[in-house]
Amino acid sequence: MEERLQKILAAAGVASRRVAEKIILSGRVKVNGKPVKELGAKFGPKAFVTVDDKPIKREGKIYYIFYKPRGVVTTLSDPQGRKTVADYLDSLPARVFPVGRLDYNTEGLLLLTNDGLLAQSIMHPKNEIKKSYRVLVVGLVPQEKLDLLRIGVKLEDGVTAPAIIDLLAYDHDKNTTLFAITIHEGKNRQVRRMCDYIGFPVRQLLRYKIANLTLNGLKRGQARPLAEEELAALQKVVGTDE
Ligand code: URA
Repeated sequence: MEERLQKILAAAGVASRRVAEKIILSGRVKVNGKPVKELGAKFGPKAFVTVDDKPIKREGKIYYIFYKPRGVVTTLSDPQGRKTVADYLDSLPARVFPVGRLDYNTEGLLLLTNDGLLAQSIMHPKNEIKKSYRVLVVGLVPQEKLDLLRIGVKLEDGVTAPAIIDLLAYDHDKNTTLFAITIHEGKNRQVRRMCDYIGFPVRQLLRYKIANLTLNGLKRGQARPLAEEELAALQKVVGTDE
């Protein structure tokens, strides 16, 4: 995928994007041996970029969606010897890290990448990136309890922002309620604590969506690279497309 030169320089750690723009305007940057002074110029991953005739380090960016199973920690190593995300990623072409975390017993969508800028932007609270979960609880959850989640509930670290709640099913035989919740904050164990608050502790929790990304095509424990369109749409949502 082609990217603006200032973004390429920033991603390679040369300077912030703003400073990279000044470096470009000052004529210190060459692409494939030719000076480039335009800020809008875009280049692909194979372009040979130098600053003051020194090549910049361009690490290929990779982006994977991973379907984390329950009973796996969202880290690359675990002192307690539990299964980690790294146990599933041997075949990936470069080192990646998980963006955000899911609890040990939560399953679902984790984005894995070596793109620090995108990762930071997804996690930054000001960007309000939506994350959707399917929640299973025991009992029939009354509408007024779901309304509390819709309005916001008081947790020890603050009141939660309004959540989008969709009641999906009540299973009479098992006496369980399944609902979807979409939030844009990233408080620790947020969904579990919200459900504790209304008196319906989580039995099963699955994250099925982050922004435009879904688990489509994946089984538990599998990873797949993001399609170009998925990545482009994600960058647009989080504002790293410029
Ligand atoms: N909320 C939780 O409670 N747990 C997770 O893993 C993710 C969101």
